[in-house]
Amino acid sequence: MLKLQGKVAFVTGGSRGIGKAIALKLARCGSNVVINFTSNEEAAQAVVKEIEALGVRALALKGNVASAEDVKFMLESFEQQFESIDILVNNAGITRDNLLIRMKESDWDSVMEVNLKGVFLCTKAFARKMIKQKKGKIINISSVVGVSGNAGQSNYSASKAGVIGFTKSMAKELASKGINVNAVAPGFIETDMTAVLGESVKEGLIEGIPLKRYGRPEDIANLVAFLSSEEAHYITGQVIHVDGGMNI
Ligand code: NAI
Repeated sequence: MLKLQGKVAFVTGGSRGIGKAIALKLARCGSNVVINFTSNEEAAQAVVKEIEALGVRALALKGNVASAEDVKFMLESFEQQFESIDILVNNAGITRDNLLIRMKESDWDSVMEVNLKGVFLCTKAFARKMIKQKKGKIINISSVVGVSGNAGQSNYSASKAGVIGFTKSMAKELASKGINVNAVAPGFIETDMTAVLGESVKEGLIEGIPLKRYGRPEDIANLVAFLSSEEAHYITGQVIHVDGGMNI
């Protein structure tokens, strides 16, 4: 078991899907966990209870990661409860898929705002504290399509490719401060985000996955916990694929 006892983690979009699995995995490894959510307070509080049942502290903070004002509020609320920040997981993300010709400007903008600007705003806010502490782990959730591209996902792919460029730049900028910054690129993971895809699309996708199965949120959480631990202290600026071989 990885040892994260006494650490404090902030996981954006932590009330469901991959974010929830990450929050629970970090808590199982001993970390206190603060999750962020946007609207479903009930789901967020249920995750808080699950985390607390594991014997660590938990908190849920409402806010839109794409809003500088909300991020400032979340940081202030965080600091009222916790003295340090050891792990930041930029997980919140959305899709607004369409072919370029049909894509609305607002769908381009909202995906960029949440998936890329949200990572910038949260990193800027929380890394400041890590810089003062001279240690920290930042893990950004990108996507296989941020590397390979995907028809119908130009906005999403561009935002996730942006996350990779941001991760590499931050890794270089923050290395001297003792902060590791890495990206995880999930393949097809079964969550609410992918539940909207039709069965024929899903069956087609599985053909391109050498391991011939979809991923589970826990597959991503396991890697995030490792990257959050001291065992990963010589890894930075990397994009690690968890995709059943989809991107080989
Ligand atoms: P999900 O839709 O189940 O969860 C997304 C989470 O982000 C939700 O908790 C949602 O409330 C939160 N969120 C959305 N907009 C937000 C905002 N403005 N501010 C704060 N939180 C916000 O999706 P899933 O699958 O759990 O996705 C998690 C991350 O993994 C996302 O970044 C997604 O792009 C990425 N990913 C998912 C893949 C998949 O196959 N499910 C594949 C590759 C990447």
